[in-house]
Amino acid sequence: MSEVAERLKQSLEILAADEPTLIRRVYEDLFEHHPQTAVLFSEHSRAVRAEMVREVLMYVIDHNEGATWVEENLTSLGDQHEVNGVTLEMYGWFVDSLLRIFAEISGPQWCVELEDSWRTALELVSDLMCKSESGAAG
Ligand code: HEM
Repeated sequence: MSEVAERLKQSLEILAADEPTLIRRVYEDLFEHHPQTAVLFSEHSRAVRAEMVREVLMYVIDHNEGATWVEENLTSLGDQHEVNGVTLEMYGWFVDSLLRIFAEISGPQWCVELEDSWRTALELVSDLMCKSESGAAG
């Protein structure tokens, strides 16, 4: 496993120790900063929201470990999101919320290097989700 993949995996263990709090805080932060995203989620979609955070993290780790199936899955998942009204800029908002809450939960164990590694990995996943949407726009 690469050094970055190893670092992200260790960080994820801390983050996932209290998964309900992680998930709750990510959406609180996203909806507080960008209330227009809240209306996209149905009122009773707690399970779907949790699944979304879990899947993002799983894709980050698997992609870092070199899994190529990830790319195909993300492109089709991205197409579904576009249909549901998710725009390109929302991906940036979501990554920012994830990073703010990762920092909050990790406390003193958070550092610039970790933030950089997570940002790069999360942006890669977002870019794959946006592949056909950005293509259509250009
Ligand atoms: C960054 C990568 C992302 C990944 C990997 C991801 C993944 C997922 C997954 C796995 C689901 C579950 C349902 C399904 O299978 O379609 C889902 C649902 C959803 N996602 Fe994402 N997502 C991402 C980004 C976003 C962003 C940026 C937004 C908008 C702020 C968003 C909004 C939604 C909505 C509205 C649903 C449906 C919720 C419902 O049914 O109420 N997603 N996402």
